[in-house]
Amino acid sequence: MQKGLIYFIVDIDMCPDQKKLPGLFQNWLSVIGCILSVVSFSTILVLFILDLKSQQVNPYLGIVTYMIAPTLFAVSLLLIPVGVLLERQRRRKGGHGAHFPVFDFNNPVHQRRAYIIIGLSTVFLIFLMVVTYRAYEFTESVTFCGQTCHQVMNPEYVAYQNSPHARVACVDCHVGSGVGSYVRSKLAGTQMVYSVIFNKYHRPVETPIKNLRPAQETCEKCHWPRQFFGAVEKDKQYFLSDEKNTPWTNHMLMLVGGGVPPYGQRGGIHWHMNLSNKIYYITTDKKRQVIPWVKVVHADGQEEIYVDKESKFTADKPPKGEMRRMDCMDCHNRPSHGFKVPFVAVNEAMAFGAIDKDLPFIKREAVKALEADYPSQGVAASSIKKSLEEFYMKKYPEIWRQKKDFIVKTVQSVVEIYQQNIFPDMKASWKEYPNNIGHMVFPGCFRCHDNKHQSAQGKVLSQNCTICHIIIKQGTPGAMEGSPDGVPFHHPDGDDDSWKQMNCVDCHSGS
Ligand code: HEC
Ligand code: HEC
Ligand code: HEC
Ligand code: HEC
Ligand code: HEC
Ligand code: HEC
Repeated sequence: MQKGLIYFIVDIDMCPDQKKLPGLFQNWLSVIGCILSVVSFSTILVLFILDLKSQQVNPYLGIVTYMIAPTLFAVSLLLIPVGVLLERQRRRKGGHGAHFPVFDFNNPVHQRRAYIIIGLSTVFLIFLMVVTYRAYEFTESVTFCGQTCHQVMNPEYVAYQNSPHARVACVDCHVGSGVGSYVRSKLAGTQMVYSVIFNKYHRPVETPIKNLRPAQETCEKCHWPRQFFGAVEKDKQYFLSDEKNTPWTNHMLMLVGGGVPPYGQRGGIHWHMNLSNKIYYITTDKKRQVIPWVKVVHADGQEEIYVDKESKFTADKPPKGEMRRMDCMDCHNRPSHGFKVPFVAVNEAMAFGAIDKDLPFIKREAVKALEADYPSQGVAASSIKKSLEEFYMKKYPEIWRQKKDFIVKTVQSVVEIYQQNIFPDMKASWKEYPNNIGHMVFPGCFRCHDNKHQSAQGKVLSQNCTICHIIIKQGTPGAMEGSPDGVPFHHPDGDDDSWKQMNCVDCHSGS
């Protein structure tokens, strides 16, 4: 024991006066500290090599390698000097004048030990630096954010993987760059770990997120706001709820311009992002869906205030609450966690063939099955399967017999839509997270552009259909109308009056 490895490395207590006494390191606490640090260090080493070798990052391996084992290691290292100090105090009380070790470089034994210690420490420090860097990378990884506390982040993680930003790391939008953001996010993260361990988190996770970085530090690092110009083509395919699932096409050009000359033309949707004018607003609800008060500061410094004339507020009596400068996320609030509304997801799946559009009433039945309330994804899967298969078995036995395989495949696609968009355990779905792009299912653009927000000069925020997009083609196959200059909107169900009297959300609120 006396000549053991631990003793060799740590016993530099060679004070000649103290020869009779064992070294200060020889106390239980320090010895346990030594053993634990060797064990935890070897664990880190082995796991680190495993982690480097594995192709995929494993969240649990990462947590043990970069969080639990290093913490254990640090605590064990700390035990060693604490043991020495306690031992010294104990000896002093016992009347032995315990000194600190005397180190003599003229003594070849001391010299050799010093080289060993310095050499080992250097190797060790370099290793520690590499591990620390990997730990930093790990805590910034999508795996860490999306998969470690699996249940809580699962809805966002699943939706994210099906989004245009599936290759953008969570931290690029949620943390931003710079040391300040890193530290802030890790502090917030500690509080989150607490709320997960003690089951104190909100279901669903509440938005808007209060400490999200402004878009200038996140979105605008990749998307250049000066550079928006022209129009983007959107090809929307719908299927009505009749027996034939009648198709309806809406082909439109979204006027996404709004940059700054000479980079892009001035007008268009991204006008809001024009760097020379600023838009501020105040909401009266938590989810920022009701916006009675809007202020524009034009390039020349002139202010213009628009107030919802049906509200009780006026230009100089704004609602109480935070005045927010509009940025990308006020429209693109679901850039990577879009929980699709059932009818939208079913239309898409029918358009690209995952759902068989020749099955009678499949649009109506699939949407109905997806909109029902289920306690869990498991129950949803079996209930959706049961209700859809029974529908065809009972109502269309002939088709069920002929196309059973197609029906089973279609039903599986409907179940997949549920699994990717609706998460009962976290209460996450389109019902909780409105999407502010558009105006059909959620108020979106019409929160301000409702013909009711008026300025002192009598200007209104227009709902004129052609300021944001032009419809270049619409209708059902065989009865299409279109023109490159745009055609007036026709409502697919043939009712061309109601939509002029009411807002789209009054009828289309998600179901
Ligand atoms: C392209 C940018 C972007 C990326 C990438 C991104 N998010 Fe988000 N995330 C947002 C925005 C914007 C919101 C909504 C913020 C708001 O409404 O205040 C949000 C909201 C959330 C919320 C709150 C709940 C909700 O659904 O609104 C969670 C949780 C979340 N993100 C987790 C993640 C995780 C985990 C990842 C990586 C797997 C990730 N995010 C990647 C932009 C992003
Ligand atoms: C790390 C770079 C990066 C960041 C940060 C980022 N994006 Fe993107 N974004 C991209 C890339 C790359 C694409 C194109 C993806 C493709 O087409 O495959 C994209 C696509 C988009 C699109 C077009 C989606 C579509 O359906 O075509 C929108 C809108 C968008 N981003 C908005 C945002 C917003 C809002 C934020 C901030 C919350 C943001 N982005 C942050 C890189 C980024
Ligand atoms: C007033 C609301 C609004 C704001 C603010 C806004 N956008 Fe958009 N953006 C839209 C709409 C509407 C579209 C059309 C496409 C669609 O419907 O998805 C769009 C399209 C885009 C596209 C795809 C179009 C293309 O040219 O390829 C990107 C990328 C994008 N926005 C990024 C951003 C970024 C980054 C910001 C912040 C600097 C921003 N947007 C601010 C409403 C907005
Ligand atoms: C917070 C309120 C608000 C929201 C939400 C909003 N806008 Fe606006 N928008 C404004 C204001 C204010 C103006 C400027 C009116 C003026 O002074 O001429 C404007 C102007 C516009 C213009 C005209 C720009 C030009 O060429 O002069 C377009 C296009 C537009 N918005 C599109 C959209 C779209 C699309 C959305 C939804 C994705 C949207 N807006 C959401 C407040 C808003
Ligand atoms: C302030 C801008 C703005 C105005 C005004 C506006 N729209 Fe839209 N509209 C949008 C945006 C943004 C979308 C979403 C496009 C997308 O989903 O990518 C949209 C989508 C649509 C869609 C497709 C619906 C969907 O989600 O599938 C239709 C149809 C439509 N608009 C018709 C109209 C009609 C009719 C009017 C006039 C009453 C109108 N819009 C006025 C901005 C506007
Ligand atoms: C008075 C109620 C009402 C209003 C207001 C209304 N709609 Fe509709 N809408 C309907 C009905 C009913 C259908 C038929 C649904 C079906 O057959 O699946 C429909 C179908 C649609 C469809 C086809 C969607 C699908 O998958 O079946 C689109 C697109 C649409 N409406 C757009 C709009 C837009 C854009 C507005 C606002 C400008 C609007 N609607 C306002 C009642 C309304």
